[in-house]
Amino acid sequence: MRVGVPKETAAKERRVALTPDVAGKLVKSGLTVLVERGAGEAASFGDEAYRAAGATPGATAAEVFAQGDVILKVQPPSAEEVRLCPEGAAVVAVFQPSAEREIVSQLAGRKVTAFSLALLPRITRAQPMDVLSSQATVAGYKAVLLAATATGRFFPMLVTAAGTLPPARVLVLGAGVAGLQAIATARRLGAVVSAFDVRPAVKEQVESLGAKFVGMQIGEQAETAGGYATELSEDTHRRELTFIAQQAKDADIVITTAAIPGKRAPVLITAEAVRGMKPGSVIVDLAVETGGNCELTEAGTDVVRNGVLILGPLNLPSTLPYHASQMYARNVASFLMHVARDGKLVVDLGDEIIRDTCVTYAGEVRKA
Ligand code: NAI
Repeated sequence: MRVGVPKETAAKERRVALTPDVAGKLVKSGLTVLVERGAGEAASFGDEAYRAAGATPGATAAEVFAQGDVILKVQPPSAEEVRLCPEGAAVVAVFQPSAEREIVSQLAGRKVTAFSLALLPRITRAQPMDVLSSQATVAGYKAVLLAATATGRFFPMLVTAAGTLPPARVLVLGAGVAGLQAIATARRLGAVVSAFDVRPAVKEQVESLGAKFVGMQIGEQAETAGGYATELSEDTHRRELTFIAQQAKDADIVITTAAIPGKRAPVLITAEAVRGMKPGSVIVDLAVETGGNCELTEAGTDVVRNGVLILGPLNLPSTLPYHASQMYARNVASFLMHVARDGKLVVDLGDEIIRDTCVTYAGEVRKA
């Protein structure tokens, strides 16, 4: 099987789907890896490193698409890239089919088999392939660094000849993958961190990172059997907003990461709550791609409202491209090994991982 790795063409995308070390592992397992010239450059992986690992760098985009049996990408293919795919090829990337209807129908039209790793079931078997978690780890870390750079305060407590300076107070809303990484990073920088989540099960994890779990009486089941948050009733959500507004008053930094699978992100910080915050406070809204956790966030830009700086950063993993690519590459290679049998791609729709991620197959759109 020939694996093709094109250079990402989406604006501001600096990651690459396969890094030299992981490409080398695929080569050792008997696959051929064809890499577009300069594909890893923006993530600091030069063509030479791919060559040293046994891959074949230096191809043009047209060659990679024409010769690859499976194309590994980070972003969904563009219309131009779909046109370069021969019938029967396969593409693996990360996208929500509902946001890419046109591309999905083109992929089906060309009888390209497309997989989206955004649709992986969050089951134990799929954990090594879980790109959403690996990239959310990067985002949680980077969100804290953005806040630390934007705030006018030190994060740690400093005892100096010029006096003692108190540590920054960081509030993290949502303690899933990104939230826990944000907590850990803020703690490492010396901030006093508190966190809130509707799932009481995360209290222990929050505390194990040295942060305080601030809980409110939810009074209803806010978690599915699979461990995911569910939408709160209107009444509980109203109480939650009041509770969070109170917590946010004391915070210098708020990092929001609350998400409910398949739904718009819950609004947790209203315009009124922002008005109650201290001037100079910073909000980093990681849920911006699904609508935002703060009512005033603007996607992809920074705004100041009532003296509070609100950041709505898009695609943070791309801003840490070396390690984000390394994690992504391990995830995507693990998926590839799952769908490959005896060196061939086998679309076994009886397998939950393949069934859930397969967006187009044999000319049909399977996920819209
Ligand atoms: P996750 O599903 O692991 O965590 C989300 C957490 O939010 C869960 O612990 C859940 O219980 C909690 N939650 C849900 N409703 C809540 C509510 N009403 N109040 C408090 N907590 C609530 O998700 P993950 O992987 O940590 O991702 C978090 C967010 O970060 C997502 O919106 C994701 O799209 C986003 N993200 C943003 C990136 C960026 O560059 N902006 C990059 C990667 C992820």
